Parts: sequence; structure tokens; C-alpha cells
Amino acid sequence: MAFTIDVHLSPDDVRRQMRNDALAGLQAEHKSIPPVWFYDERGSQLFEEITRLPEYYPTRAERRLLVAHAPAIAEMSKADTLVELGAGACDKTRILLDALQDAGTLARYVPFDVSDGFLRNAAATLSVEYASLAIHLVIGDFHHHLAEIPTEGRRLVAFLGGTIGNLDPSQRARFLFDLNCTMSSDDCLLLGTDLVKDRTRLVKAYDDEAGVTAAFNRNVLHVLNEQLAGDFDPELFSHVALWNEGTQCIEMRLRAGQTTEVTLHDAGITVQFHEGEELLTEISAKFTPEGVAAELMEAGFVVEGTWGADQGEFMLSLAHPYC
Ligand code: AVJ
Repeated sequence: MAFTIDVHLSPDDVRRQMRNDALAGLQAEHKSIPPVWFYDERGSQLFEEITRLPEYYPTRAERRLLVAHAPAIAEMSKADTLVELGAGACDKTRILLDALQDAGTLARYVPFDVSDGFLRNAAATLSVEYASLAIHLVIGDFHHHLAEIPTEGRRLVAFLGGTIGNLDPSQRARFLFDLNCTMSSDDCLLLGTDLVKDRTRLVKAYDDEAGVTAAFNRNVLHVLNEQLAGDFDPELFSHVALWNEGTQCIEMRLRAGQTTEVTLHDAGITVQFHEGEELLTEISAKFTPEGVAAELMEAGFVVEGTWGADQGEFMLSLAHPYC
């Protein structure tokens, strides 16, 4: 069947955006770098490993919910097109594709992601497994290219994994509103959100025994070195994961073990880290069911169904724009 790829982000665009993020984030009083840059090929592999760790519950919790409720979700959405935001390795895709196929509506799959490495292979495999499925890959980022996602068909737009937690509240409001503006009232959003729970369990999910999350965290320094001709010594930085009670977020940081100077030649900057200084690399917000409902409503969505809210581990919400 038809297999098309739209590329809205070239490798040069990616480097330019990383450069801007590095300039803004590393020269600020509190240093930070956005989590989107974790996911080069090695970073994507390390994340896959994270999802199999005993401590990292969200992937399994979400998968259980999808397995149990995908038929109901397919039924309620009546979608013929599955759009997957941040598709990555198209991991949970099959559960939704199968449910839409069983409902007899499935026609089209539109995975959307910033990097095409994983996506091309995964989509090629899916095109063999689902012979009559039209696959339309879109390479772009959430901030610039939501409007480029094809609007044909009745769409189920899935944003899974709890990835929305990588955005702070104002970024989330903006993102959900922008997304809402690209959706018709027949389209549905399926949103996966991790829920607030025992803090020890939360922190352990981001600070595993085997050190995979630590390697994943440090990998962002390799990515900066690679893309911007930098000289970070990742081994000088230690992994920090903490629960920020005020913002209800897990924060991941990299702490400099000694005073050090780092140059990113292709960004034209040299920055100092003093001993103990931290670079914020990720926030992962955790939600309450009420909080998710309020944010969806604020962005112009009507919630049709939620799953998982009672067990309190992870939640799926199905919502559509107000007509
Ligand atoms: C892919 C963004 C959902 O926040 O839990 C896993 C990424 N970071 N371990 C998350 C992640 C550290 C993950 N998301």
C-alpha cells in the first residue's frame, strides 16, 4: 500500500534548533537543555532499555491499559486514521491498529516524530504486517509542524507514554491549544499521562539500580558534542533524579563533579560549570485525573472517557474538540 514520507525537519534544521537551545539553555543562570535532544540513535536505544527496567513502570502500565481498552477506544473514536505523536519505535501502535482493524475502520497510519531513524524501519515493518494500511510518515517537531500533519480521514490522535509531562504547564497549554486548532470535531485525542504516586517509587523509576537512566541522561552530552563540536566530558557529570513537590515533576539533572569549562565550537560558546552545578535535562510532570481533565478542558477539549484513573498508576484520556 501507499507509503509516503514528509520531511519538515532536515538534519541542518535539527542542528540549528539544538544550537539555539544550547545558546539559550547553557548561558542562562540556571542551566538547562530540552529533553528532545536525548533521542539520537543511542538515546532511543537507551530509552527502549529503560522501558524494560523493573523500576520503570509507566510503559507497562500504559500497555496494560491499551490492551484492555483499545477496543472501546476504537469503538468510541470510530477513527479510520491513527496519528501517533512522538511515535518513536511505533511500539504500542500495533495494539491500537489491531483494535481499529477489528472495528473494521482502519485505513491509514500517520506516525509523527522528530527523528526518522527508528521510524522508517518500524513503518516499513508495519507496512508488511498490515498489507492494506496506507502509511504516511511525517518528520517534524511539536512546536512548528503540528499543522503539517495530514488531516484526511477521521483521526485518532495518540500522544502516549506520558511524554506530555516533558512540557511545563504553559508549554502544555500552548501545545494542547495548537493541537486542538488542527483537529476537527470528529477527531479524537488519546492522551497518556503518568499519575502522581508514592515519591520513592517515582524517583526509583528515574534512578534505576542498573544505571541505564544515568547513561541515558549523560547521553545528551554526547549528542551535544557530536552535533555542535563540543568537548563535554560526560564522565565528569553525575546523574540526579529528584521529585519537585512544588511543580509535581520528576527532574533529571547532570551535576558537575568538579569545576570545568566546556566549549561548543559550532555554537560559538564556552561556558563554565562550578563544582556541584547542575544542568536540568528533563522534567517529567506527574498528574492527577482532575488536573488532566482541567488542562484538556482549558485547551478546548471535551473528555469522553478515561481509563486507569482509579488504580492511580497511569491514565488514558479520550477527548475531542468542542464543536
Ligand atoms: C518518554 C518522556 C515519557 O518522562 O518518563 C524515562 C522519558 N526519562 N526515563 C519519561 C524518560 C527518563 C520518559 N518519556
